[in-house]
Amino acid sequence: MHPPGLSSDMMPVAISGDKMNPPSVRVMILLAGAVRMCAQPLGPGAAPPVPLFSADVIRSFTPADNPITDAKAKLGDMIFDEKRLSADNSVACNTCHSPRNGFTTHTKTARGVGDQIGKRNAPSILNAMFYKSLFWDGRAATLEEQATMPILNPIEMGQKEPKDVVARLAAIPEFVEAFQRVFGRPVNWEDMGKALAAFERTRLSTEAPFDRFLHDNENGLNASQRRGWALFTGKGRCTNCHTYDPALPLFSDNRFHNTGVAARGRDFNQLAKRAAERSLTNNKTEIDKLALETDYSDLGRFLVTKKSEDIGAFKTPFLRDVLLTGPYMHDGSLETLWDVVEFFNDGGNQNPFLDAEMKPLGLTESEVDDLVNFLTALTSDRFAELRAAELDRQHASYLYHRAVQDQAHHTGP
Ligand code: HEC
Ligand code: HEC
Repeated sequence: MHPPGLSSDMMPVAISGDKMNPPSVRVMILLAGAVRMCAQPLGPGAAPPVPLFSADVIRSFTPADNPITDAKAKLGDMIFDEKRLSADNSVACNTCHSPRNGFTTHTKTARGVGDQIGKRNAPSILNAMFYKSLFWDGRAATLEEQATMPILNPIEMGQKEPKDVVARLAAIPEFVEAFQRVFGRPVNWEDMGKALAAFERTRLSTEAPFDRFLHDNENGLNASQRRGWALFTGKGRCTNCHTYDPALPLFSDNRFHNTGVAARGRDFNQLAKRAAERSLTNNKTEIDKLALETDYSDLGRFLVTKKSEDIGAFKTPFLRDVLLTGPYMHDGSLETLWDVVEFFNDGGNQNPFLDAEMKPLGLTESEVDDLVNFLTALTSDRFAELRAAELDRQHASYLYHRAVQDQAHHTGP
């Protein structure tokens, strides 16, 4: 049994098959488990979440031909939760974007119909309405366009034709009735995308300790988090890409950068060379498959633009509620926020296309802790208890992996 808000696949992922398993490490795993079990959802007396974005801001980011209404968002929610959308009735949008897990899953990469595992980590859909383009490589321009793509991807929801999906929903009276009420016509593919997008525009982060700190300097952040904020904008150089815009404080420049994540553990030179030699497709459906099913996935933005400076470049993700959406990066290769900050501290992974902004930072261990603590302060207050538990879990997991590494280092090959 798991407390609401947490799932069994939140167990530290990489621990199972490891070579070494010293007793101290076992204790840490147990500890991590125990901490997780303590997490409880906010009680009934909790204050309602404070919105981060005004109705005006939301409206200005919403296309004029798809205004948000309660009924439309509700229909979108119904579609989002509907497993009958997938070829074998096993997968809904919320299978990979689970509301109980910050609208993602705590697995490295996503698992779709027939237990097929894709190449990319499922991002949260929270705040997705504010991205200039969707997916890690920006291959979809709008939420409306993006929304129906997973349904037709062979390893996500596995449907062959839009008309098959429309026929499925048209056979379910609740959907027939809801489409008629919202759009004034029968179930159809385009309106499905619109309803899903409208629903997604209602899923937003809410006020976090960082925001309270901005309103009233003292109480929002503790000393470590305040040092972390200074490092984030200063020595850590994070705002070079995770820009801070007070009007839209989500921390992304909405651009694509090669940080070297994709260069990890592979001959990136070779892949880039093969890609340069091969003229890759411009067909959107084919690009979707390359991104989710093949090793070309790691080429990132290049799949879309075919420009060599985009090789291995991925979208700078928003950082709101980031504590809850691990593992991190487009391939889920970094398990905890400590691993992420260490990654940037090392200047990323060297490769011929590394972004010029990526440089070793020389952060001390306590500065790394400060940055992680700052990142946790971007977690909405409505997840306050989850936040504490997840931070403890990540810390235990990070220390475990470091202990294993140190031991391997000392014992030698
Ligand atoms: C099998 C798991 C899976 C299913 C099912 C799934 N998604 Fe996703 N979703 C992903 C993955 C993985 C990505 C990232 C893919 C990429 O960037 O190449 C993603 C990306 C997205 C994004 C882009 C977010 C961003 O930051 O750019 C949105 C929005 C989204 N999905 C919505 C949906 C909707 C709506 C559905 C249902 C129609 C759905 N997803 C079904 C796994 C899934
Ligand atoms: C050169 C631009 C750049 C800089 C500088 C940078 N980031 Fe990032 N960040 C990115 C990109 C791009 C990704 C996604 C990379 C990928 O998935 O391959 C990312 C991913 C992340 C993630 C993972 C988010 C998720 O949902 O998976 C976190 C956390 C993060 N960065 C924090 C930081 C911090 C903290 C710093 C400063 C120490 C920093 N970044 C500096 C561009 C940058």
